[in-house]
Amino acid sequence: MKAIEDFIRRLPKAELHLHLEGTILPATLVELSQRHDKTPLTLADAEALYRFTDFSGFLEAFKAVTRLLMGPEDYELAAWRMMEQLKAQGVVHAEVYISVGVIYMFRNHDATVFEPIFEGLERARERALRELELSIYWIFDAVRHFTVEEAQRVFTKAVEMRPQYPSIIGIGLGGDERQAGSEPFRALYAEAAKAGLRLTNHAGETTGSGAIWEALAIGSERIGHAVSAGRDSGLILELKERQTPLELNPTSNVRTGVVKSFREHPLRKYFDAGLLVTLNSDDPAFFDSDLANEYLLAHTEQGFTKQELRKLAANSIRASFLPDAEKVEWLFRIDTTR
Ligand code: ADE
Ligand code: ZN
Repeated sequence: MKAIEDFIRRLPKAELHLHLEGTILPATLVELSQRHDKTPLTLADAEALYRFTDFSGFLEAFKAVTRLLMGPEDYELAAWRMMEQLKAQGVVHAEVYISVGVIYMFRNHDATVFEPIFEGLERARERALRELELSIYWIFDAVRHFTVEEAQRVFTKAVEMRPQYPSIIGIGLGGDERQAGSEPFRALYAEAAKAGLRLTNHAGETTGSGAIWEALAIGSERIGHAVSAGRDSGLILELKERQTPLELNPTSNVRTGVVKSFREHPLRKYFDAGLLVTLNSDDPAFFDSDLANEYLLAHTEQGFTKQELRKLAANSIRASFLPDAEKVEWLFRIDTTR
């Protein structure tokens, strides 16, 4: 087992579906609480916040943890810790969701609070590039079950800030698909694309394959989760033909109760059908996993060979929004990792 774990760590990998807020470990949450709360959380209190039994409970837990991210220094600390964790797993590039919609909700929709927060994130990103040789892009994530106006605020901020910060690579929609699909966001996605932003979208996590068709119809370039595509052979053919990158998060789906076990996750089925699948950890601090562990579980639970793990890593680079020249370099490094 040690040999395969070492191989996974050496393999250059990109993580494409990772929420900054979902990487905050309970110990860091205690530190944040000591900064902000009159009666700070104990470690046991903090750990209790991460407990949930279903998808709605998970979204509530995510919100409770995000509440303690208050100022720029908090975001900088969380981001730097996340980057150290990524480096330790052999991740060379990550495209990280920032729940800008949740920031606005906690700050009375005051748009002026965001820029100083973002500068804190940028300090961490620049330091990671220098000290860890890790590259990071940001994706501004709106919460689909808030309103369309709320999402508009988030995406407009991305459009406004992108010229000054090319690290803002794209936008996305998370939250509860059972309450809102993708169609209401069509015009917002078109505007973001016009401004040069790349389009990602959570779809088919807790809903049927119709949600994935809808996400494709509004121009989403990458689909997060896509669990329900497995029940729609027409959609599998479409995803294969388009080579739409899928950001799969198997352990996340098991922990939120969407899939029974890692073994039953459609990862293997999609891979064998020729879809462009990538492995990701979503919210590793909430699911007791991380990207290296997802690769390990692909090996132990679904029989992915070393060569197939190499293919997953290569897919992660191909599906990233990195420039082609950088992709070529990483693909060569992946091919020659033994
Ligand atoms: N926000 C953070 N993680 C999420 C997930 N897995 N689905 C929807 N929204 C999220
Ligand atoms: Zn997600």
